[in-house]
Amino acid sequence: LSKENQSILSAYEWLTKLYHHLLRHTKDGKEGYTYLKERGLDDDTIDTFQLGFAPNIKDFTTEFLEKKGFHQQLMVKAGLLSQKDDNSVSDRFSGRVIFPIRNHLGKTIAFNGRAINEQGPKYLHSAESELFQKGRILFNFDLAKKHIRKESEAVLFEGSMDVITAYQAGVKNGIATLGTSLTESQAKLLKRYVDTVILCYDGDRAGMDATYKAAVLLQKVGCYVKVAPMSDDMDPDSFVRKYGGETFKEQVIKPSTTFMGFYMRYMKRNFNLSLEGDRIKYIETVLKQAALIESPVEREYYLKELSNEYNISMDTLTEEIRQFRQKSGT
Ligand code: UTP
Ligand code: MN
Ligand code: MN
Ligand code: MN
Ligand code: MN
Repeated sequence: LSKENQSILSAYEWLTKLYHHLLRHTKDGKEGYTYLKERGLDDDTIDTFQLGFAPNIKDFTTEFLEKKGFHQQLMVKAGLLSQKDDNSVSDRFSGRVIFPIRNHLGKTIAFNGRAINEQGPKYLHSAESELFQKGRILFNFDLAKKHIRKESEAVLFEGSMDVITAYQAGVKNGIATLGTSLTESQAKLLKRYVDTVILCYDGDRAGMDATYKAAVLLQKVGCYVKVAPMSDDMDPDSFVRKYGGETFKEQVIKPSTTFMGFYMRYMKRNFNLSLEGDRIKYIETVLKQAALIESPVEREYYLKELSNEYNISMDTLTEEIRQFRQKSGT
């Protein structure tokens, strides 16, 4: 590790402890503590994830780092401070709840800061650096690793709050990307530890699009993908808050479907099934995907579902599938 990177890690370590201490024990961090309590986190969880608060005091962090002897330009490079066009340097995360992002060894290498009022973007990350590349890191991987091994499954969420809330509810094999889509490097990292990945993204349109993309990528690197059914207007964090952790496990995590089950739900949203032409296109789209399924049992299962739902004979569906499989040479 270069001297500079050692210094950056040390600054993150100091600030993680400081922000966490402020949140847990002081007036300057009270807003952050209250915010997390209102979102249902208990003290144990706050401590486990070392959640903190960057106080809303002008130049608080800039001055702290200076007092500790950290080189200011290096701290800008580390993504801890911001530099404006006029070269003046200021705090980057002030007034935000801090989610430390740890690398696979458990060292903090970046912050994810959430605004607690309507000011600015909802989430802010440290700028990327040699130590922190969003596309190579999975949030909570260090803590989740042993649970991923034990369960032989990983649960991939959209956001850090989802991971933390699920963890508190007992789903400890959860990880997340950091506001970007899953990358090949993250998919490969997962594949090294586990064969099955449950996708548990937000139930909205964006979440379903992201689920589809992530599933394709994970399958490409050889993972078996399952998809958790999430209500349209919810994400895992809001689901747990509304229905509790047990219901989350019973109704979201456990009944995760195969990728094909998800694909049928997903494609339904891309077609207007009250139109005959769209209905036919939908069925053909689904059949094309079903043609890729290797297991004859699984294939037949979904064909039956289509056959029942759209009143088309199994013979016709099977014949069409046979044609698709011939064309694609499978
Ligand atoms: P979401 O948009 O699902 O967050 O983004 P959310 O569920 O509304 O957030 P809460 O529950 O109100 O706190 C999921 C993830 O995408 C990144 C963050 O990492 C977040 O955890 N994100 C989101 C950003 O980077 N910037 C944003 O403005 C929003
Ligand atoms: Mn503590
Ligand atoms: Mn979302
Ligand atoms: Mn969300
Ligand atoms: Mn949320």
